[in-house]
Formats: sequence, C-alpha cells, structure tokens
Amino acid sequence: MIKNISVLGAGTMGHGIALAFSRFGYSVKLYDNNISYLNEVPSIIRSEAEQMVRGGLIGDADVDNAMANIELAPTLEGAAEGADFIIEVVPEILELKQEIFKTLDPLCGEETIFASNTSSLRLKDVIQPLSEKRKARSIICHWFNPPHIIPLVELSNYGNMPEDIFKEVYELFLSIEKKPIKINQDVAGLVSNRLQNALAREAFYLMEEGVADAEDINDAITYGGTAFRMSVAGLTEIVDMGGIDIWTSVAGNLWGDLEDRADANQFLLDMVKAGKLGLKTGEGFSVYPEDRRAEIKEDFNDRLIRHLRDIV
Ligand SMILES: NC(=O)c1ccc[n+]([C@@H]2O[C@H](COP(=O)([O-])OP(=O)(O)OC[C@H]3O[C@@H](n4cnc5c(N)ncnc54)[C@H](O)[C@@H]3O)[C@@H](O)[C@H]2O)c1
Repeated sequence: MIKNISVLGAGTMGHGIALAFSRFGYSVKLYDNNISYLNEVPSIIRSEAEQMVRGGLIGDADVDNAMANIELAPTLEGAAEGADFIIEVVPEILELKQEIFKTLDPLCGEETIFASNTSSLRLKDVIQPLSEKRKARSIICHWFNPPHIIPLVELSNYGNMPEDIFKEVYELFLSIEKKPIKINQDVAGLVSNRLQNALAREAFYLMEEGVADAEDINDAITYGGTAFRMSVAGLTEIVDMGGIDIWTSVAGNLWGDLEDRADANQFLLDMVKAGKLGLKTGEGFSVYPEDRRAEIKEDFNDRLIRHLRDIV
C-alpha cells in the first residue's frame, strides 16, 4: 500500500505534485538540488493551496494539513528513505533522469515504485540503468500544469509492469481525485499532448494564412466545437450527437485540406528569436507588464479552479 511519496525536483511541476498528494493525507518528501530554492518552496505551495481555498475547492484546515504532510528532503538519500512511490520531476534531460534513477535504485527498498513525469522521453530509455526487478516497478506518470489543479494523469500501461502494480498506481491517482488514463503503447507525446498539438498546428496555420486573427481563433476554440463542447463530452459523444455519417462526410471533404507540416511555423521561430516567449519574458501573443505577471498567472489558475469546481 502506497503511503509515503517522494517527489524529486520542486520546480514548475514538482511542487504542485507534492501538494496534490499531501492534501489527501499522503506523507510527501520533496527534494531539489537547488537548496536555497527548495527552502522557498513551502511558501509557494501554501499560497497555491490558499488560492484553492478562495476558489472553494478545499477548506482552510486542508491547507495546514497539506503543509504538515510535506517534508523537505535536502539529500537524495533522505528522499529515498522509506519511500513507497518516487516520482522524478527533474528537467527533461535523459541522462539526468537516468543518473538519478541509477543512484536511487540501491537506496530504495525492493518494493519502491519508480515514476517519471517525462513529457517526451521513452520509458525504456529513462529506466535503462535500473535492475530488471526495478524496471518492472517503473512507470511514466505524466501530469499537466498546474498539476494540483488539472485532473488528467497519463499512465504508461506498457513495459514490464505487472497488472497488480499498475492497478496500485492507478488507484493511487483515483485516491487523490485525479483522472488517470492508460496509455497502451509507447508513442511520442502520449495522448493528450498529441491531441493538443494537432489543434495547435491547425490554429497556427490559420493565423499564418490570415484566415482569422489570433483572438478570433481563441474564441473559436473556447466557445465552439472544440474546448466548449469537448470540456463536457470529450470527442466520441459529440460525434454521436452529430451523426457518424456527417462526421464521415466532413472527414472525406476536409481532412485532405488540413495542415500537415512537420516543423514549427516561421512566425513562431521569429517570436522565439525576438525573445517573445510569453508570460516569462513579458510578451508572447499578448503583452504582460512585469508588475502584473503574478496577478495574471493567479487569474489563469483561478479560471482553471472555477472550471474544475464545475466539473467535479
Ligand atoms: N512544465 C510543464 O508544463 C510540464 C508538464 C508535464 C510534464 N513536465 C515534465 O516534468 C519535468 C520537470 O519539468 P518542470 O517544468 O517542472 O521543470 P523545472 O525546470 O521547472 O523544474 C525542475 C526542478 O528540478 C530541479 N533539479 C535539477 N536538477 C536536479 C537534480 N539533479 N536533482 C534534483 N533536482 C534537480 C531544479 O532545481 C528545478 O527546481 C520534465 O520532465 C518535464 O518534461 C513538465
């Protein structure tokens, strides 16, 4: 039974993952090799938990309980000690993830389950330095930012993991009110990012061609057939509502006309070159004045929290 969880890397994803587990009573050890940053992380987690209180997702007492369940681990050895489930959330560099898993393997008990939050690496590569026994207890658990709010977690249902251990991990995510899904084949980008990028490729193409401007394309997504409907019904229910015959005719008429490029659009590359990276540099598709960035990020999370409250 999984009770003690260690999270390795406390950055964009790691600290939110710690909160997602700790608020449901799991004991969480949080490790980061940047010690001065690690010491600041509890105040970041607390303010995010307080935002969940304001959003009506949790109560005041839940914040203190969640914080009490998090222990900072200043060393990897300390993080490994007593862990039933360890998830690495360090930068997306294969050699770094391999090195951490290799160091951890002999430090952990035989039963410890290893998980990776990798967005783009293959499970078999990340776990390559592990013993065969540990490989059978290793899994990709792919979260979405911000992980304490977004319900979906993609779980690799391939590799050598026996069914009963997979089930244990699956139930772990149910117990923290996440929506785990099984990914049955080792495909790049798993499922959700592939879907998101199929939409992004078409949207960027339409912007580039001037078919509609960015604001109207955003509105088409938010208020139309994709995000608005799909946020309550996914895809297949919408197809059933419309009729398989209609969707099949539209596929025949339209799919050949859709964008199929393999590389990012020139205007995106130009934005990167000009340092227009979005919120973090103050300009992307919109402008974000430095003194308003924290407030803008908070507003973004507030909207996600309101949506989560509506759908749970
Ligand atoms: N950011 C996202 O939206 C997102 C979404 C899903 C998955 N992921 C994946 O999650 C992982 C982490 O991404 P992130 O955005 O949180 O990165 P990040 O850079 O924000 O955080 C990584 C953290 O790891 C720490 N770190 C670096 N080397 C370390 C080491 N040797 N030992 C311990 N800690 C170390 C850093 O100090 C930093 O705090 C990546 O694999 C990424 O692909 C990210």
